Amino acid sequence: MCGIVGYLGNEKALNILLNGLSALEYRGYDSAGVSIKTDNNIHTVKTKGKIVDLMSSIIESKTDLNGTIGIGHTRWATHGSPTTNNAHPHFTDRVSIVHNGIIENYRELEELLKSNNITKKTDTDTEVIALLIDMFLKEKSPKDAFLSAIELLKGSYAIAAIFKDEDTIMLAKNESPLVIGLKENATYIASDISALIEYTDRFIFLEDKDIAFITKNSIEILDKNQEKVERKPKTVAWSKESAQKGGFKHFMIKEIAEESEAVRNTIQSRIDEKGNIYIDEEIGIDKQFLKNIDKITIVACGTSYYAGLVAKPILEQYTGVFVNVEIGSEFRYSSPIFSNNNLFIAISQSGETADTKESLRFAKEKGLKTLSIVNVKESAIARMADGCIYTLAGPEISVASTKAFVSQLAVLYMLAFYLGKIKGKNTKNQITELLKIPSKMQETFENSNKTVKDLAKKYHQYNNFLYLGRGLMHPIALEGALKLKEISYIHAEGYPAGEMKHGPIALIDENTPTVLVTPNIEPFYSKTISNAEEIKARNGKIIMLSDKDTAVADDMIKISAIDYEFTPFLYVIPLQLFAYYIALYLGHDIDQPRNLAKSVTVE
Ligand code: F6R
Repeated sequence: MCGIVGYLGNEKALNILLNGLSALEYRGYDSAGVSIKTDNNIHTVKTKGKIVDLMSSIIESKTDLNGTIGIGHTRWATHGSPTTNNAHPHFTDRVSIVHNGIIENYRELEELLKSNNITKKTDTDTEVIALLIDMFLKEKSPKDAFLSAIELLKGSYAIAAIFKDEDTIMLAKNESPLVIGLKENATYIASDISALIEYTDRFIFLEDKDIAFITKNSIEILDKNQEKVERKPKTVAWSKESAQKGGFKHFMIKEIAEESEAVRNTIQSRIDEKGNIYIDEEIGIDKQFLKNIDKITIVACGTSYYAGLVAKPILEQYTGVFVNVEIGSEFRYSSPIFSNNNLFIAISQSGETADTKESLRFAKEKGLKTLSIVNVKESAIARMADGCIYTLAGPEISVASTKAFVSQLAVLYMLAFYLGKIKGKNTKNQITELLKIPSKMQETFENSNKTVKDLAKKYHQYNNFLYLGRGLMHPIALEGALKLKEISYIHAEGYPAGEMKHGPIALIDENTPTVLVTPNIEPFYSKTISNAEEIKARNGKIIMLSDKDTAVADDMIKISAIDYEFTPFLYVIPLQLFAYYIALYLGHDIDQPRNLAKSVTVE
């Protein structure tokens, strides 16, 4: 949450900062600002609102922002409401800083500042950092003042600071991501690489408790013991186009359209036609251990959690071991029972989600073998686990997750077949089927797009929806409901269809349509049709997703028939489209829905 950028080089910093902030806007978008050093001054412009509002404020303010060293921030408010005053950068006459994270001991630090007659002017936790650095600057050099201030902080932070009297950017990182982009004669800083792929493909990923001093000619990094350390640059080749809308109106629809390609990329390089799966190195865990695993625990949040729920029966079927799927924020405070042969899997698009990350840390502390399934390269969760299988979906910019979800499924299915094979099962046919999934997904997208758009027009004014499914369609129903809530702000409940009679049926009337997700596969289909009859008997409207027509549905979204175990890959697509088009008809900000941020790096 919150995006930070920085630039130090020969070009004017402003456009680079604004470009970077636009690319990072999915991390938070309630206020934004920049600080730029010009000669011996720091000039700051900040505002409530989005990056476009910041651009207008910059023009209106006529501030001199012509320098070549600068920092910028786009905010998702934690402490203090999203006002111009609370927007970053926070600054004094001598220093200006941007911060992503939460300073947990900020009240204590406020007291320390007060005892030195220094008072805050904002409601944020962040301002204490700027004030502390400034306080130390009275007696110390900028470098030492920065180090002294950072030493006092407790919590999570990615900080970038610039100084009135120094041509330098200073960085500090703990638990929030911070990456340095390298190019000849220029250094870029950002919360993640998506802000920088336009400029470079070479990055240094800072580690927790690292501090960095960047000047025109040097990058000095200190580790957690404040000793000089070399962090080797890594090359990450994400194409520039993948982070652009490319003619689509929103990233979300572009990313739905890219789903088949994302799944193809994720599986193709790891599977061959003979049914071999090549993920040994990425898993990084001894095969003998994998043969003997007796339980798998999957931890994730939101959409990634639903990917785990879909995978549970698939993994159980092929490995023969119990799979426990838990929500990060619950798992990390629970008292799970582990044994030495357990495998722990963290799933995360961003690789930064605080609750998933802390659950992974917890599992590692308990001595478990850990694996992560992550989309963002070199992110914290990817690096922390013993092994990481990347989803090769490319950058996912829209806040609502779509192509990452199906790519996570692709990895989880591959993993199930791979572990199944290790445990002696013949999974060749399944692997061959998995290879056919991307083209079936593409067909589903093309065949359902128009129907779903028309249905969204018909239904966009309803205020409540119920999403029901059984078996593998239960998590798909949950995901459909989550998508609708997130971007259309319409209340939607996902439920196992069989549970309807135990409560949710009370919601049914002519104003609460039900989206019933049911492939024509027994025993699920007949039971779900019975549920449909019960809904009809109470005047409820039914939108049915199935490969079989039925008179009980008011509206049908036809999906091609496919083996039951692969149905999630197809059935989720029309549900994502339904949410998208409803939000479009309602005129919402689809890629940046209110109150949300893409990487939830705070608890
Ligand atoms: C839903 C959505 C969120 C994320 C959740 C986990 O569309 O985007 O529910 O799935 O915040 O994020 P990651 O996968 O980055 O850990």
